[in-house]
Amino acid sequence: MINYKELIEKAQNALNFSYSPYSNFKVGACVLTKLNKTYIGANIENATFGATICAERVAIDSAIMNNDKEIVCIAIVSKSGDYTFPCGICRQVMAEFSSDLEIVVATNQEDYKIYKLEELLPHSFLQKDIK
Ligand code: THU
Repeated sequence: MINYKELIEKAQNALNFSYSPYSNFKVGACVLTKLNKTYIGANIENATFGATICAERVAIDSAIMNNDKEIVCIAIVSKSGDYTFPCGICRQVMAEFSSDLEIVVATNQEDYKIYKLEELLPHSFLQKDIK
């Protein structure tokens, strides 16, 4: 049983590390892997804008760099007061490192919604499609 509230709390803590001087839009994420480990991320912006990386990918990349490559759940929070859904690039990166992923979008620990990646990114392009 996944402890969604704990993942949300860790994602909220990650907000403290957001580097977002351009948008002032702070995003935090926490990934849970099959090995029952968690990894946090926050968005890191850049003066070139295009080099900005989202919180979700920072968290996923952290898991990968710990040789922990199967994510089972990711919680996402922001300071907007509303649910923050992952961008298209992040959904594609999630698809690379998961099967049957749960995506939790939360405004706080008591208010969250859970989606399957399949709902947010149907018919994704995967390694098996490269023949
Ligand atoms: N951002 C994320 O980190 N994750 C999302 O799911 C949506 C957008 C960041 C990127 C940028 O730093 C800021 O939010 C505004 O787009």
